[in-house]
Amino acid sequence: MKRLVNGTGALDSQAFKAIIFKNTGVIFVRRKIMVIAPAKVNLTLDVKYKRADGYHELETVMHQIDLVDRLYFEEDHDIKVASDSREIPLGEQNLVYKAAKSILVKYGIKAGVKIFIEKNIPVGAGLAGGSTDAAAALLGIDRFFSLGADPGELFEIGASLGSDVPFCLHGATALATGRGEILEAMPAGPMLTMLLVKPPYQVSTAEVYKGLALEHLDCRPDNPAFLLSWGKGDLKGIAANMINVLESVTVKKYSELKFIKDRLIDMGAMNAVMSGSGPAIIGLFKEREAADRAMTKMKKMYQQVFLVSSYVRSD
Ligand code: C5P
Repeated sequence: MKRLVNGTGALDSQAFKAIIFKNTGVIFVRRKIMVIAPAKVNLTLDVKYKRADGYHELETVMHQIDLVDRLYFEEDHDIKVASDSREIPLGEQNLVYKAAKSILVKYGIKAGVKIFIEKNIPVGAGLAGGSTDAAAALLGIDRFFSLGADPGELFEIGASLGSDVPFCLHGATALATGRGEILEAMPAGPMLTMLLVKPPYQVSTAEVYKGLALEHLDCRPDNPAFLLSWGKGDLKGIAANMINVLESVTVKKYSELKFIKDRLIDMGAMNAVMSGSGPAIIGLFKEREAADRAMTKMKKMYQQVFLVSSYVRSD
């Protein structure tokens, strides 16, 4: 198991000012921390084969972008999950709840924690929104209770929650293999400017993998070529290999996604590719101005359009 590239706390965490309550002479200090949970995009995604355990063996470049959720932690008697989003479950089915439960049980912590999710990442979009929140929950609880958790243990809990969670703990850019949990850190690479378009429906990752006909794939990414271009900061080479084999399922089902890809390219994107199992599409732009102009046009057609860049940690 690879260690966290940036050490524990791979995501931004900010301690809030302590709020002091005076109550019949007793002073309670209420602590609150915030952890940033960035979305991921797949710049390439290849599926090698279907494994005996039902999962698919992947080779994919994962990259964090600056479209982020924020998780706020405060003391409570039980594990509680709240959110400003009506699109996510708040009970025990929420991955954040599961993450909290797993780490608190593992470290024998009897106390609870209330986690508020400020949701900005579109749900069911192929952007690892749930996975990044779960990763942030693990990092947040580690910090909140000063657990000093071993990164390898966090990865293990993360992998048990979902295939994208280890990358979300790792952060930055990585080549992921296995079912997505074996990570090879990639160098910082160029700062990317992308326009992200999310049409108004969600797709089920499991359904997309189920629909994949590996024997009929005619277009796969050349990951070694991508890595070479990445190392040189060659945007043209990067764009040429932005290929996702899962498009053969999701784009086939929703032909509108082809329309979005084509429009982004018409509007100046160097290339456009679906992220993960979709349906979010990202268009890579050389110039921010062109991406800005494309955003104005795309916003006339779609509600969820985001001008995003590579995520850079602030600490
Ligand atoms: O790991 P996670 O729960 O996020 O995966 C959701 C579903 O996507 C899995 O149950 C599986 O059907 C499919 N999947 C897969 N191969 C992968 C990752 C996910 O078949 N590498």
